[in-house]
Amino acid sequence: MSRLCVVVGGSRGIGQAVASLLAEKSQRVVVVSRNLDAARAAAASLPGADHIGLNCDVSSEQDVQRTFEQILRECGNVDYLINAAGISRDALLARTRPEDMMSILHTNLLGTMLTCRASLRSMLQNRGGAIVNIGSVVGLKGNVGQTVYSASKAGLQGFTLSLAKEVAPRNIRVNLVAPGLIRTDMTAALDEDELKRAVPLGRFGEPRDVAHAVHFLLETPYVTGQVLLVDGGLRLAS
Ligand SMILES: NC(=O)c1ccc[n+]([C@@H]2O[C@H](COP(=O)([O-])OP(=O)(O)OC[C@H]3O[C@@H](n4cnc5c(N)ncnc54)[C@H](OP(=O)(O)O)[C@@H]3O)[C@@H](O)[C@H]2O)c1
Repeated sequence: MSRLCVVVGGSRGIGQAVASLLAEKSQRVVVVSRNLDAARAAAASLPGADHIGLNCDVSSEQDVQRTFEQILRECGNVDYLINAAGISRDALLARTRPEDMMSILHTNLLGTMLTCRASLRSMLQNRGGAIVNIGSVVGLKGNVGQTVYSASKAGLQGFTLSLAKEVAPRNIRVNLVAPGLIRTDMTAALDEDELKRAVPLGRFGEPRDVAHAVHFLLETPYVTGQVLLVDGGLRLAS
C-alpha cells in the first residue's frame, strides 16, 4: 500500500535522500521547502508519479497551517512525516547574534513542533502514523561554536520522546535520527579531510546513509521513542 509521506526539507541533502528512498519504495511524497522551485524540481526528479513540491517556511505557524491544509485537501491524510528542515549558523556564543539564535530555534525546534502538531490530525484520522525527526549527534555531546544549534537538537530529543509517549496509545510512532558529519550543503564549507579523522568509520556519511535509518524507523512497527545515531561512531570518539 502506498503511503503519503511529507518530507520537510526534502529539496536538498538528507531530506532529498529520504524522499528518493521513499519514492523508490513506491510511496507518494510531498516535498516541502522554502524555495518552491527547488521543492517542485526535487519532487519531479523522484521515481514514480503523483509526487508534489510545496513551499513552506516551517518557522511560520501560519505557513505550516496553510501547507498542511493544502496537503490534506489535495493529497489526503498524512501517513509519514519526516522533519529534515534545519539550519546552522556556527559561531561562538559571544559572537552569535540574537536574531540568529531565534532563526535556529524557530526553524530547527519550533518548526518541527509545528509540523508534528499539524500532521497529527491526519494520523489520528488514519488511526496511526509515523514521524521521524532529524536531530544531531551534537545535541547529545555538544560542540564548540554550536551552542544554539546543539540546544535546538537536544530540545528535539526531549520533544520526540515526550510526543512518542503522548501519541503511542493512538498508534502513532515518533523517533529521532541523530546524524554525525554528513556530506551536504550544510557541511560543504568544512575541512572534510581534517574532520573525518575524528570519525571512527573514517569518512563523512552520505545523505543516503541517513535515509536508510529514517526508512527503518518509519517501517518498523514496534519501535517508538528511540534516538538512532547515524554518525560513523563519532559519539564514541568524544
Ligand atoms: N549535514 C550534516 O552533517 C548534518 C548533521 C546532523 C544533523 N543534520 C540535520 O539534518 C537536517 C538536514 O540537513 P542537511 O545537511 O540535509 O541540510 P541542507 O542540505 O542545508 O538542506 C536543508 C533543507 O531544509 C530546508 N529548509 C531550511 N530551512 C527551512 C525552513 N525554515 N522551512 C522549510 N524548509 C527549510 C532547505 O530548503 P530551503 O532552503 O529551500 O528552505 C533544504 O531542503 C537538518 O535538520 C540538519 O540540522 C545535518
